[in-house]
Amino acid sequence: VTVLFEIKTFDHQQTKKLGEIFAKLLKPGYMIRLEGDLGAGKTTFVQGVGAGLDIRDRITSPTFTILHQYDGKIPLNHIDAYRIDFLEEIRELGLEEVIDGQGITFVEWPDKIESILPEEMLYIKINKTEDDQRNISFDAIGNDYLKVIKELEKSVSYRFR
Ligand SMILES: Nc1ncnc2c1ncn2[C@@H]1O[C@H](COP(=O)(O)OP(=O)(O)OP(=O)(O)O)[C@@H](O)[C@H]1O
Ligand SMILES: [Mg+2]
Repeated sequence: VTVLFEIKTFDHQQTKKLGEIFAKLLKPGYMIRLEGDLGAGKTTFVQGVGAGLDIRDRITSPTFTILHQYDGKIPLNHIDAYRIDFLEEIRELGLEEVIDGQGITFVEWPDKIESILPEEMLYIKINKTEDDQRNISFDAIGNDYLKVIKELEKSVSYRFR
């Protein structure tokens, strides 16, 4: 499996900064899969996205509530599908409407709701390294998303340190 772009962050602040830079490249309706083990830094990354979208509310993990929505320059939807066990819950929570809407949507544990996800999405994976840094990789299906990653790579090369 090839990865389009990969970057290492040394601490929590850098992961947030990367999320903030990434957020500036997103458009309404964009869908992002966000994967990584417990404590990898998924929520940290989305907090950075929130900063990039001028969201004032504190962004917390949607672990128990499954869906968090925030108002910003573009609305932000943060889904954690880990606790979804029945397709019925998807309907009760209105997740399809959320996904089809004009917000930007991040989905943790996307496999759980695969049936309602579009084919074209941007993929982010966060992996802990042995020295407790993070490898963050970006890949995508869909030309618009592939362009976002190319743009991110450019932005990061002169703005990220
Ligand atoms: N480079 C890094 N990037 C992000 N977080 C880091 C980094 N280095 C250390 N950390 C620490 O790792 C933890 C990441 O927590 P976070 O809640 O963002 O993870 P998560 O992937 O959302 O976990 P969970 O699956 O439990 O919700 C924080 O305590 C953070 O300070
Ligand atoms: Mg989290």
